[in-house]
Amino acid sequence: MAKVTFIQPDGTPRECVNFEGMTLMQLGVANLVEGIDALCGGMMQCATCHCWIDPAWIEITGRAGEDERAMLESIEGVEIRPESRLTCQIQLGEELDGLVVRVPPEQPGV
Ligand code: FES
Repeated sequence: MAKVTFIQPDGTPRECVNFEGMTLMQLGVANLVEGIDALCGGMMQCATCHCWIDPAWIEITGRAGEDERAMLESIEGVEIRPESRLTCQIQLGEELDGLVVRVPPEQPGV
């Protein structure tokens, strides 16, 4: 089990607790976190699940891999930071208990 805090675009935090096997995107969608649109359903085709991982956590979540980074860079309107990740690509586990992520004010094409 992992408790995750999403900082929504207006600055409001939302604490969510996962079920076994969820991705970070699924947790955000299930809890109606503002700004996690996830239009492609986790297929790494839309980047509307983009978040900035709190810098204190980026070494634990890991950074975006080559394909994920390429996806982020290919879509206009994504403010890419070193801690940018597609939340559909992050599997939640106990090691991420306490994770904090920030949802950007805008997602591409939304
Ligand atoms: S849900 Fe579309 S890229 Fe993550």
